[in-house]
Amino acid sequence: MNTIKVTPTTTSKIDSIDFKNLGFGTVFSDHMLVCDYKNGAWSTPEIVPFQPISLMPSAKIFHYGQSIFEGMKAYKDTDKKTWLFRPDENFKRFNISAKRLSIPELPEAVFMEGLKALLKVDEQWIPTQDGSSLYIRPIIFATGEGFHASPADAYKFMICTAPSGAYFAGKVKVLIEQNYSRSANGGVGYAKAGGNYAGQFYPTQLAIDKGYDQVIWTDDNTHEYIEEAGAMNIFVRINDTLITGPTSDRILDGITRKSILDIAKDEGIKVEVRKFTVTEIVEASKNGSLKEMFGAGTAAVISPIATFGFKDTDYDLPELENPVALQLKKRIMDIQTNKAEDLFGWTVNV
Ligand code: PLP
Ligand code: COI
Repeated sequence: MNTIKVTPTTTSKIDSIDFKNLGFGTVFSDHMLVCDYKNGAWSTPEIVPFQPISLMPSAKIFHYGQSIFEGMKAYKDTDKKTWLFRPDENFKRFNISAKRLSIPELPEAVFMEGLKALLKVDEQWIPTQDGSSLYIRPIIFATGEGFHASPADAYKFMICTAPSGAYFAGKVKVLIEQNYSRSANGGVGYAKAGGNYAGQFYPTQLAIDKGYDQVIWTDDNTHEYIEEAGAMNIFVRINDTLITGPTSDRILDGITRKSILDIAKDEGIKVEVRKFTVTEIVEASKNGSLKEMFGAGTAAVISPIATFGFKDTDYDLPELENPVALQLKKRIMDIQTNKAEDLFGWTVNV
């Protein structure tokens, strides 16, 4: 790949940012990476000031939703070194999503070298406060024009970043969804396609209107199997066993999920990857064996669930002194921020 051209901003916004009070993904760093696909090839990416982009209304992204994204984070350790967590997994999944949406796959060097170069340019934007990080959004969308319902002939790959704090303010109250589905067999649920999220907003809003924060997605066929927690993978702990469902066509293969499985095994926690049902957790809640429920994903890391609603009844999870969720959250965040030894070879110094 040729050298990445950098056009620095002449008006940095960094002094106007309150790094002690960051929301999630609401303020954006000074620069972005841009790379076009035209005439059958990806170009050399460029780094330019964060700015609007111009597209024709006939661009296929607006008509047929050919768009994918990734979610990752960069962390600063106490020596001010920059770290990424399993970026190779994000890259692999980006191309899995690309393939499913008929988007041309991206060369690894464009993704990795582009990302590292962007992080160097916007290094000052990586927060150092505990619990904060630089949230990274790689995206690809169809810029090629036409009303014909077929893949576009041109695309844009971009990376934008946002210094961010916690995704959720505290524990969440979730509703087990019995009517709507996030994904279906043979569908795009395993891809990070923008449309997967658009389809969740309406059922999620209905749940919010009823006083919940999030929806727990069940399988589209029977609505009996628990699959995901909003935009997170889901774990439950019944007695001493941590359980999460197997990945499938319908479930995003989360990097946090698989890291938690490895960490839990390393910590001697009993782990089961198997299907589990709504009936099983309702019963476990009634007989006191359901100890914890939490979502896991890059943005939220681990998000403990306080209450789940099912068919007009709310089931509260017990308040525990030393929840496994917090033990796992601390270990994964300590690895991500280079506070704990990375026995797994996951972290990458930038
Ligand atoms: N499930 C869905 C639907 C998601 O959008 C995400 C977020 O990325 C996850 C699970 C968690 O995946 P990861 O841990 O790789 O962020
Ligand atoms: C992430 O966890 O990074 C995600 O992509 C979920 C998102 C929709 C906030």
